[in-house]
Amino acid sequence: MGHLDLIRIADRLRGLRDCRDHEKIGEILGELADACLERFGLEEVRMMGSRYPDADKHVQDHNVFFADFTKIAFLYETGDIDLTDDILGTLTRWRAWHGQREDSRLARHLEAHAA
Ligand SMILES: [Fe+2]
Repeated sequence: MGHLDLIRIADRLRGLRDCRDHEKIGEILGELADACLERFGLEEVRMMGSRYPDADKHVQDHNVFFADFTKIAFLYETGDIDLTDDILGTLTRWRAWHGQREDSRLARHLEAHAA
């Protein structure tokens, strides 16, 4: 599961922005949660294996994001929030901030330390 897969799932969610299909959106949120866990786990294994110096901070970012995402998905599931406001905003900020900055830095480290 690469970043492109995560982006594709997030884009499917974005495409349902005005949709009121609660079940379908809930399904995609579940897929997104699974994809994030898989992706984060892979990155974390690679960080540990290559002695990435910023591993603790990077893992903490993953944990904070996932806690936020889980909370938002729960609130969506219970009908307390709208899809557009919190979920899409959180995904956009995550992609811009963590994906483009932290994951890019990790990728450069892994390239430099490839066996
Ligand atoms: Fe990451």
